[in-house]
Amino acid sequence: METRKLLSRQSIDLGVCYYPEHWERSLWAEDLDRMLAAGLGTVRVAEFAWSLIEPREGEYTYEFFDSFLDLAQEKGMQVIFCTPTATPPAWLTEKYPQTLNRDREGHPICHGSRRHYNYNSPVYRRLCRNIVEKSAAHYGKHPAIVGWQLDNEFNCENDLFYSESDTLAFRRFLQARYGSLEELNRAWGTVFWNQTYTDWQEIYVPRKTNTGSVNPHQELDFRRFISDSVCSFAKEQADIIRKYKKEGDFITTNGMFGNLDYQRLSRESLDVLMYDSYPDFAYCLDGYHEKDPMKDRWWSRNLAQVRAVSSPFGIMEQQSGANGWNDRMEAPSPRPGQLTLWTMQSIAHGADYVSYFRWRTCTFGTEMYWHGILDYSGRENRRLREVKQVSGKLQRMQEIAGSVYRARVGILQDYDNLFDAAVDKWHQRVEKKSQDALFTAFQRAHVPFDFVCLENHCTAESLSPYEVLFYPHASILTKERMDLLEQYVAAGGKLVMCCRTGYKDLSGRCVTEYLPGLAARVTGTDIQEYSFVAPDEGKVTADWDGAEIEAAVFREVLSPVGEQAHVLAVYTSGDYRGAPALICNSFGKGQAYYFGGAISTDTAAVFLQKLGIADPWGSVLELPPSCELAVREKEGVSYLFVLNYLPQPAKIVLKQELEDLWEGGRAAGCLEMEGYGVKVFRSEH
Ligand code: GAL
Repeated sequence: METRKLLSRQSIDLGVCYYPEHWERSLWAEDLDRMLAAGLGTVRVAEFAWSLIEPREGEYTYEFFDSFLDLAQEKGMQVIFCTPTATPPAWLTEKYPQTLNRDREGHPICHGSRRHYNYNSPVYRRLCRNIVEKSAAHYGKHPAIVGWQLDNEFNCENDLFYSESDTLAFRRFLQARYGSLEELNRAWGTVFWNQTYTDWQEIYVPRKTNTGSVNPHQELDFRRFISDSVCSFAKEQADIIRKYKKEGDFITTNGMFGNLDYQRLSRESLDVLMYDSYPDFAYCLDGYHEKDPMKDRWWSRNLAQVRAVSSPFGIMEQQSGANGWNDRMEAPSPRPGQLTLWTMQSIAHGADYVSYFRWRTCTFGTEMYWHGILDYSGRENRRLREVKQVSGKLQRMQEIAGSVYRARVGILQDYDNLFDAAVDKWHQRVEKKSQDALFTAFQRAHVPFDFVCLENHCTAESLSPYEVLFYPHASILTKERMDLLEQYVAAGGKLVMCCRTGYKDLSGRCVTEYLPGLAARVTGTDIQEYSFVAPDEGKVTADWDGAEIEAAVFREVLSPVGEQAHVLAVYTSGDYRGAPALICNSFGKGQAYYFGGAISTDTAAVFLQKLGIADPWGSVLELPPSCELAVREKEGVSYLFVLNYLPQPAKIVLKQELEDLWEGGRAAGCLEMEGYGVKVFRSEH
C-alpha cells in the first residue's frame, strides 16, 4: 500500500486499533496482511502495555514491541505508538499507593480497572516521565511509527481527583492564581457560612460535606485546577517525545471528556486531536430514550466539538461492533450500512483519519463484549466486508482531502462557563434545553454549524466567517470576550444571547450591575425581572411578528435601552404577558438579539427562519429530516455529504446536476437513498 502522511491534508485514511498483546504472535502477520487488504493502513498500539516494557520497576524489555514494529515495517503498516500511562501496573500502585486517585470521601480508587492514578503524585509523574523517556528513546526513530498518542482518554470514566497530592497541588494552583488568602477569601465569598481560610493548609480539594454542597467558587476553581493538572501532565510527556520522535511524526491524544480545556491541551502538547466515536452510546440500553429524535446522530454534535479544537482531526476509535463492558453499556451492533454511515459522518465533519475500534474482539476481560470489526474467531464477516467497501469508495474520493468543514452559523462556548455549569443546576437546565434545541433545529433545517471557542487567541477575524453566532447562556462574561463580540457585531455579524447571560464574574459570583451585565451594551437590553417558568404556568409564549416563540424553562422581562434597540416579541402568556421577550439592537453594521428564555426546538427554528439562515443549500438540494447535510469545502468546490440516519430509504431531490462522488457519474432530480445510506456530491460555485 502506498504510504502517505497521515493527517497532513493530503489524504483521507483508515486504520484500526490493535492489541498485539491480546493474541498469539503467530497471528500478527496474518492480521496485518488482512488489515492492509481491507484498506486499513495504520494501527494504534500499546496504550495499556506498560508491563510489557517495564515489567518490574527499572527493568526494561523492548523485545515485544521491537518484533511487532519490525513486522509492521516489513508489511508496510504504519503505527501510532502510545504512552502507557492510563494503566499503571500493579507493582507500581502497590509500592506507591500515593499514585492512586481517591473519591470525594477519601477512599482510594484501586488497581483492577483503568485510569486509577492521579495526575499530581510526584512519584507518578517521575515514573511516567521515565517510561515515556524509555519508550520514546527506544522506539522514537522506528520507521513504522508515524505518530504518538499520549496516555488514553484523559479524564475518561472519572474527571474528578481527590488524592492528597491533588490537595497539595490545588493549594499551589490557588496560590499562583490569587497570590494571597485575602484575595482567595474574597473570590470564593468565604464569609458566607463562615468558610474563611486563615492558612493555605486549611484548603482542600472539595470533600464530603454535611449537605453534599461545596462552595461553588471553589468547585469552579477545582475544575480549572483539574484541567491545569491534565495539561501539565500531558505536556511533560509531549516534551519528552518531541526530543526523540522523527520529524513529521505527530503527537495526539484521544478525547473528549470533562474538566479539560482542550484548546490549551492542544496548543501546548498536540499536533492534532483525535476523538473516539461510539454513536451507539445513544442506544445503550440504560440510557436509551426512545423518543429522542436526534439519538441517531447526536455524535455529529460531538464531532463539531472536536472540530472546534482541531482542524483537521482524526477518529482514533470508530465504533465497528456491538458495545458492552461485561457489567454495563450494552448496545447493538452497527446494522448493515451503519458502519459506513458512521465512518462518513466522521469524515463529513472534518476527520481526515478514521481508525476502527478494534480489529478482533478480545476474548477476555471487561471489554470482551465490546466488539471490533471481527468477532472472536477472526473469521471474515459482514462488518469487514463493509469496511472493505467503504475503504474502496474512499480511495476513489481522495479529491476531498484538504477540504475543510464549512459553516456559516456557530455556537460560541468557553471553558469558564463550561466548568462553572458543572455544578450549577440553574444554569444546567436552561443550557441543556437550548443546546439540544439548537442542534435539533440545525439538523431539521439542514444548517451546518460549528462550535466556536471564545478563547484568548480568538480574534474578530476568526469570527467573521459566521453570519450568526449563538452564545445562548453565557453567565460568566469578561470584558475581553465582550470586546471581541462587539467588534464582531459592529462589523456586520448577528449575535444571539438568551436568558441567564452576564450575571457572573470570573469567580462565578453574581454581579451587582444591571443584567445582562457586560452584555447590556451590545444587546441594548435591561432585565427588569426574571424567574424559572413555574411548574403550573404552562407554556410561556411570545409573539414575534406572527410567529410563536417559547420562553422555555426560564423567562425574563426585558426593556430596550437606547435608540437602536427594538422590541421584536412580547409575551403572550404567563405572568409576564405584555412585557418584552425579545430585543434586537442594531450595533454598528450588525445586530445583537437578546431573548428572555431558553430556546425550544420550535423557537430555534423560528430564529433560523427570521435570521435567514435556514436551509442554506435549499436551492441545490432538498432533503427530508432524516438526512443530515454536512459540507466540506476547498478551492471553490463544495463537497455535500448527505447522511441518512434511518433504516428506511429516503427521497432527496437534486435541483441541479451534481457529480456523485459516492456512486460515480452525475446525478440530478429525485433520488432514493437506501436506509443508512450516504451520498457525497461535488458542487462548484
Ligand atoms: C474507549 C477506550 C478504549 C475502549 C473503548 C471501549 O473509551 O479508549 O480503550 O475502552 O472505549 O470501551
